[in-house]
Amino acid sequence: MQRSSTSRRIGSVKASFQREETQISRRLFYSRDEGGSLDPESAIWADSLTRIYRSGGVDVTVFKNLSLRVCSGERLAIIGESGSGKSTLMHLLGGLDKPSGGRIFFGNQDIVGLSDGPLADFRNRQIGFVWQNPSLLAEFSALENVMMPLLVRGVRPGEAASAAGLLLDEVGLKARAGHRAGELSGGEQQRVALARALVARPKVLLADEPTGSLDFRTGETIMNLLTVLHTSHKLTSVFVTHNLSFAFSCDRVLELKKGSLQTPSETELQTAGVLQDATRLDGGTYV
Ligand SMILES: Nc1ncnc2c1ncn2[C@@H]1O[C@H](COP(=O)(O)OP(=O)(O)OP(=O)(O)O)[C@@H](O)[C@H]1O
Ligand SMILES: [Mg+2]
Repeated sequence: MQRSSTSRRIGSVKASFQREETQISRRLFYSRDEGGSLDPESAIWADSLTRIYRSGGVDVTVFKNLSLRVCSGERLAIIGESGSGKSTLMHLLGGLDKPSGGRIFFGNQDIVGLSDGPLADFRNRQIGFVWQNPSLLAEFSALENVMMPLLVRGVRPGEAASAAGLLLDEVGLKARAGHRAGELSGGEQQRVALARALVARPKVLLADEPTGSLDFRTGETIMNLLTVLHTSHKLTSVFVTHNLSFAFSCDRVLELKKGSLQTPSETELQTAGVLQDATRLDGGTYV
C-alpha cells in the first residue's frame, strides 16, 4: 500500500518534470551546416550559429554566424543589453532550442544533430541549468525536486534520494529537505534549483541570470555558491548576468552586442572597476 503510493508520487514527480522541460523547449526550425573540424580542447564549441525567429510573419534575426568556444573548466560570463539575445544563446547551447544554422559541439558530440530522445538524455547527463526563476514544483519537497533529474534517468528512488540529500547539504539546505518548495524563500528556492542542476553530476553548468529575481545580498550569496560549486564539481560554466562585479570575477567576459560576441567596451570595464584580458585564452578567436 505504502509502496504503491510512493511509486504514484514518483510517477507524478517525473511527469511534472517532463512537462516543465517540454514547456521550456522550443523547436521552431533549424538547418544543419555540414563541414568544419572539431576542437577537442573546447568543452563547448558553437560554430557559426544563426537564430532567426519568425513571429507574426516577420523574421527576427537575433544573431548570424555567431561563434563561441568555451574551454574546459572555464567560468565564462556573458553580459549584454536586454533583448541582445543572451537567453536565446543559452537555450541553443543547452539544446533546448535548435539554431536556424550552425552547429554546437560538446567535446566531439554535435548536439544539433541529435534527435529528441538522445538530446534529452544528453541534457540530463551533461548539462545543469539554472534560470532566473527556479521553476520548482511547489507542491513537492525540496528533496523530491532535487531527485527529479535522477528519477527521469531511471535511477532508483533510494539512490536518487541519497544523492539529492548530499547536494542539498552542499548548498546549505539539508535541514529544509522535507519542506515543500513553495514554502521556501526565493534564495532558498534558488539553492534547491542549484542542487537540482548538479545532482546528475553534469560537466557543464548554464546559468541565465541566476540572481536576477533576488535582492542584492541574497544574490551575492548565490553567486559565491556558484563559484564554490564550479570548483568543487569541476564544471565548465557559462553565466548570463547583469551583475558586472560577478561577471568580471569570472575567467572571461564577453558582451553580446548587435548580434556578435565581443570583448566588453572600456565603459563596461570602467563601470565594473576592473581590467579584463578577454582574449588571453585563445588570442581572440572566441569572438
Ligand atoms: N520565441 C520567440 N519568438 C520571437 N522572437 C523572440 C522569441 N524569443 C526571443 N525573441 C526575440 O529575440 C530577441 C532576443 O531575446 P532574448 O530573450 O534572447 O534576449 P536577452 O538578451 O535574454 O534579454 P533579457 O536581458 O531581457 O533577458 C528579442 O528581440 C526577443 O524579442
Ligand atoms: Mg534573457
